[in-house]
Amino acid sequence: MKNLSAMAFGFAGSQILYAATKLGLPDVLARGPIGVADLAVKVQVNQDSLHRLLRALVVLDVAIEIPPGRYALSAFGQPLRAGHPRSIRSSVLLLGDPATWQAWGALTSAVQTGETAWDHVHGRPLFEHLAASEELSTIFNTAMREGTGQVAEFVPFDFSGTTVVDVGGGNGTLLAALLGRHPDAHGVLFDSAEGTAAAVPILADVADRCRIENGDFFDAVPEGDVIILKGILHDWDDDTCVRLLRGCRKSLRLGGRLLVIEPVMPESLAAPEASGVVMSDLAMLVYTGGRERTRSEFGALLDAAGFTLTQVSERLGASSIRVVEAAGD
Ligand SMILES: C[S@@+](CC[C@H](N)C(=O)[O-])C[C@H]1O[C@@H](n2cnc3c(N)ncnc32)[C@H](O)[C@@H]1O
Repeated sequence: MKNLSAMAFGFAGSQILYAATKLGLPDVLARGPIGVADLAVKVQVNQDSLHRLLRALVVLDVAIEIPPGRYALSAFGQPLRAGHPRSIRSSVLLLGDPATWQAWGALTSAVQTGETAWDHVHGRPLFEHLAASEELSTIFNTAMREGTGQVAEFVPFDFSGTTVVDVGGGNGTLLAALLGRHPDAHGVLFDSAEGTAAAVPILADVADRCRIENGDFFDAVPEGDVIILKGILHDWDDDTCVRLLRGCRKSLRLGGRLLVIEPVMPESLAAPEASGVVMSDLAMLVYTGGRERTRSEFGALLDAAGFTLTQVSERLGASSIRVVEAAGD
């Protein structure tokens, strides 16, 4: 049942998960039941405060208590581990990071002024901030990898024989999965140097068919038969998106396709994915000044840049992400 007081206290749940993850508790608790005193020594924290945090993890079902006084990670808490196949560890570290939640603290101001909360709080846009902070940039890239890894297998497109350019492709998670599934496809990973910092090992299995290029995607993007923009357009306002899309149009080979892969805002808030997309849209207001868009809003942007929207896929797996496919006019 919905509870307004619990919603108002929601930041506490976020910080409980963040503190536990930052201190490395999930990985230690996953190795088996451990008493508070031993755990406090292992992770080098105050024993009494740790005990209180553990009780919170138990009431949130993230940990279990094995009386008397020993704790272990619950089944529900497993994705907080670093090595879990569906790990959300870096996403928790990113969402709970002081820089991120300070930005959420400026949501009121963002709604009042229309300004991006991140820029208001930190004095510079998110991607400039990441370029100057190696630690946060690593967390950001790994968090993107966690999200992308969960949808890559569902992308419904035949890349056989094509050169695929993943623009803003980050550390190459999507490209590695797509090239892995299509042995005769070639790939170009295009992003800033910070974005591709960890890409080489991720692309190792397809390295003979793939190259990494660094640059600013507003200047130009590499040429290809399929150009992918995954989680990119929702970072930017409409005019900036059209500028980027025109650059993609120039680099798309004859008969090629553009794939925009990101959440699509449903026309009705009664749609099952609406709450996820609406929250993601607000997150874009906080982080980047971008937005989530409806099918017809994507159609208008694509039109303005010389593309025609040809189809929109079903949602990829359990996510709210779809593939918006377009052809050059
Ligand atoms: C939200 S992330 C998406 C990453 C990846 N496509 C994914 O979905 O996992 C946005 C990406 O755009 C890159 N980016 C932002 N501004 C850029 C620019 N001007 N030129 C090139 N890459 C840029 C960032 O480095 C980051 O990797």
